[in-house]
Amino acid sequence: MTISLIVAIGEKNEVGCGGNLLCRLPADMTHFKEITTGHPVVMGRKTFDSLPKGALPNRRNVVVSRQADLQIEGVEVYPSLDHAFIKLMDTDEVFIIGGAQIYEQTLACANKLYLTKIKASFPNADVFFPKINYSEWRVLSQESHLSDEKHPYAFTFVELER
Ligand SMILES: NC(=O)c1ccc[n+]([C@@H]2O[C@H](COP(=O)([O-])OP(=O)(O)OC[C@H]3O[C@@H](n4cnc5c(N)ncnc54)[C@H](OP(=O)(O)O)[C@@H]3O)[C@@H](O)[C@H]2O)c1
Repeated sequence: MTISLIVAIGEKNEVGCGGNLLCRLPADMTHFKEITTGHPVVMGRKTFDSLPKGALPNRRNVVVSRQADLQIEGVEVYPSLDHAFIKLMDTDEVFIIGGAQIYEQTLACANKLYLTKIKASFPNADVFFPKINYSEWRVLSQESHLSDEKHPYAFTFVELER
């Protein structure tokens, strides 16, 4: 099973602010959908709560929570990441989609990273991606985009593996 982390990060590894994403980048939403559709997505309960339309369509949605009685329609809820990974063992590629707590606990076992590196820093950010030791990773692809009327910042899609 390939464990892939997918995240949009600021220049200081910021990932979120007040329970929300750092900014709106429609091309990143499209990229996220293209890459994750058809694969299971694993997320923390807070990230699930931040999804505007609930469970993501055409993906097996897996949420981890320590709340013993939590049940969510259309979602598999597990009490730990270990439980989630055991249930997902038969899948080819699993996407860890956040948030910060879940990235922190899974970066060490990740085989792939799909980063959207936003060319800005966000002083109000309150959650961060763990430090990435880039020397461990090989860049598979990189695609840069300039800012425009729909995208307030420039950004680069980077795919890495180890
Ligand atoms: N930039 C990006 O690409 C991106 C992606 C995703 C999210 N985000 C942002 O990240 C922020 C949310 O991140 P966060 O770190 O605050 O929360 P989170 O990681 O999404 O969720 C944390 C929750 O997950 C559960 N949890 C964590 N570790 C667990 C474990 N080992 N076993 C069982 N349950 C566990 C707990 O839920 P209970 O409290 O229910 O027990 C915990 O409160 C938001 O601002 C969101 O917008 C950004």
